[in-house]
Amino acid sequence: MAKRTIVALPGDGIGSTVLKQALRVLDTSGFKADYIYGDIGWQLWCKEGNPLPQKTLDLIKEHKIALFGAITSKPNEEARAELDPSLRGRGFVYSSPIVGLRQKFNLDICVRPCKSYKGNPLNFIRRGRGGLIEEPNIDVVIFRQNTECMYSGVEWTNPPEQVYQALMTHPKFVENFGRVPVEELSVSARIFTKKATERILSAAFDHARKFGYSSVTVCEKPNVIRETSGLMWKLAKEIQKSSYPEIKLLNTNIDAQMMWLTKNPEDYGVIVAGNMFGDIASDAFAGLIGGLGFACSAQFSSDGIAVFEPTHGSAPKYAGYDVPIVNPIAMIESACMMLDYIEEKNTAGRIRKAIAEIIQEGKVRTYDMMKMTGSPEVIKNGAASTIQMTDAIISRIR
Ligand code: NAI
Ligand code: MG
Repeated sequence: MAKRTIVALPGDGIGSTVLKQALRVLDTSGFKADYIYGDIGWQLWCKEGNPLPQKTLDLIKEHKIALFGAITSKPNEEARAELDPSLRGRGFVYSSPIVGLRQKFNLDICVRPCKSYKGNPLNFIRRGRGGLIEEPNIDVVIFRQNTECMYSGVEWTNPPEQVYQALMTHPKFVENFGRVPVEELSVSARIFTKKATERILSAAFDHARKFGYSSVTVCEKPNVIRETSGLMWKLAKEIQKSSYPEIKLLNTNIDAQMMWLTKNPEDYGVIVAGNMFGDIASDAFAGLIGGLGFACSAQFSSDGIAVFEPTHGSAPKYAGYDVPIVNPIAMIESACMMLDYIEEKNTAGRIRKAIAEIIQEGKVRTYDMMKMTGSPEVIKNGAASTIQMTDAIISRIR
């Protein structure tokens, strides 16, 4: 097989720490690739006023696959204060480069699997009948629409006159907000389009069919958010009826889903949601399988661009440790999703098996797996470092 070229985007904080470890695992697995590094993140914003330079976009456009660590984002005021003095007052406005990347390449399908590893001390447990402790096997894949909804950035405080007038055409707005001074109004638009909603639904159904999940659950709130959640539910029914009649279609409201996820998480397989509720559901399910140290994700566009990243951020408080302590598994799992995508399934399987063995054996555990508060002391107290955990995984790849 021809050698791949993969764009490596370390980003900020622990992003570069965990990406480095994932690349070590890929190298040891025998997977052959050239990695081209691209700049992204906070340092670039501070120095150049742009956290997502054109050079990086060009690299992704050319090579089509990227492995991304994590970036740091800060609110507007802090962003302005940390900008190089020579750039201040010149109209530079910070916006998150990962959200920007998703929008630039229309990476509209986000896939976030949450599957429990046997022996993980962080797995969700509950008390069952007769007081017995049960550890349900969780195997949920969340399909999150990645470019629309409340994260599309269409929002105003003190909206312009045309927007205000448009809102005033809605009787509910007139009734509930018509007397509020315009400068006291903040509005964030929740936008769903038919095309993107159909794409995320179809991706979810395809996945269910391909991997043998019996149901797809739409997790929105159509009883209250009638237009956008309602559109997703209506299209889901149509798509299921016309193309996936063998797959059961379920409907949960996001609030009820948050309750059910600790009662009967094993009843769910594929879950599909808009950008915001997908974000919430995927963090919530990740909590049942060990939290952010285990949560991986993939993002796909319609024209063949794919970016793989852990769900966690740059955890700045753990960045720059002499001995890094964070769990590399979420990033390594994201690299496995990349291997699946490029049909290196065998290699992905071998790496996952190595991770499973180490977790089940229980001798090597990062601080999060030992329920410790993160600090440099955790190593003295028996936690494995990021590198020791990676070494252990590498030692089991066969
Ligand atoms: P975070 O995910 O960086 O960290 C939250 C907490 O989760 C950490 O304090 C740590 O206790 C734990 N954690 C995260 N990754 C871990 C790992 N690999 N192993 C063990 N524990 C881990 O989220 P936070 O603190 O809300 O945000 C920090 C920065 O990251 C912010 O600037 C935020 O904007 C950014 N961020 C970036 C994302 C991205 O690049 N895709 C996603 C989420 C946040
Ligand atoms: Mg999130």
